[in-house]
Amino acid sequence: MKLAQRMDRIDSSGIRKVFALAANMKNPCNLSIGQPDFELPAELQEAARKAIQGGHNRYTQTGGIQALKDKVRQKLPDKKGIDKDGILITSGTSGGLMLAFMTLFDPGDEVIVPEPYFVMYKHLLNLIGAVPVYVDLYPDFHLTAERIRPHLTPRTRAILVNSPANPTGVVSSQSELEGIACLAREKNLLVISDEIYNLFVYDNPFVSMGSVYENTLVLGGFSKTYAMTGWRLGYAVGNAELIAAMEELQQYSFVCAPSVAQHMGVVALDLDMRPYWEAYRHKRDLIYEGIRESFKVSRPGGAFYIFPEAPDGDGDAFCARAIEQSLLIVPGSVFSERKSHFRISFAGTDDTICRGVEILNKLAKG
Ligand SMILES: Cc1ncc(COP(=O)(O)O)c(C=O)c1O
Repeated sequence: MKLAQRMDRIDSSGIRKVFALAANMKNPCNLSIGQPDFELPAELQEAARKAIQGGHNRYTQTGGIQALKDKVRQKLPDKKGIDKDGILITSGTSGGLMLAFMTLFDPGDEVIVPEPYFVMYKHLLNLIGAVPVYVDLYPDFHLTAERIRPHLTPRTRAILVNSPANPTGVVSSQSELEGIACLAREKNLLVISDEIYNLFVYDNPFVSMGSVYENTLVLGGFSKTYAMTGWRLGYAVGNAELIAAMEELQQYSFVCAPSVAQHMGVVALDLDMRPYWEAYRHKRDLIYEGIRESFKVSRPGGAFYIFPEAPDGDGDAFCARAIEQSLLIVPGSVFSERKSHFRISFAGTDDTICRGVEILNKLAKG
């Protein structure tokens, strides 16, 4: 089958290759998956049932149901310069990323991408012919204005920010974000802020890029926070003209976010997720305390990932050795132009994490 040339610019995600290996393994210790281990909260199961029985099974308005837009606005009180037409309900955060990139970037446009990065950024930008310009964040993984500045050119169109970050779990501080805002203001640049892990911040309060910089497109989602990965729900908040363009494209692509999921989203945003947050903070401590003596690693402040350095500086080889011991972790090369690290997801049961810690410590001893 002859496919379009643009398909040559993306390759199948390395994470999926790990999943394929997992399918053939008996009782793997799976610390590779980026989705919560808890079930959909009962209130959301009930909301889904009600929505289906209440006849909410048809298209919604392209931009999303008003009740959910209102709820998103209410929960994002600190978004600077948010206007009433600046909200779009999307098919997951991925949907928001796709619509934003397609709407904003022409071939050859440069986009600042912190590296290591969430895989989709690189491949979606390449797909549309935009150029990901990587800002190397090793070894501490903090994105700062000083690190970004040397990479700016007249072709730079936007800066991507992802805090808490996948795959490092690093959370940007208020002063780091203010520094980035200053630079973006000086150069008149849009910031696209992927805030899908905003609930998973363990040590300091979460700061949204949208609260420190007016020209920010905030992308958020329900997948991780509410264990709704399969329901495909997210939102985009930003400049009304940009949101209108994204909505126009949504009309001819996704059409709308899933209707039932939108009704669940209205209920979700009022849930108290603190017990889940506490469980995840405990998992973060479990994994970090478990491996910190055997690996060069920092304590992640957020998300549910930790990104240690492989003992011999070869994350690919280390992950292959781990797989032989039935431990599934993801090579850092999936998220990076380097292969020195590997990603562990601690979104598993406490038992799985403890089993993983044992295998990792054995592997570190060689
Ligand atoms: C940083 C980041 N952004 C976006 C997504 C996509 O999430 P969604 O399920 O909302 O499309 C993910 C999923 O892993 C992610 O890690």
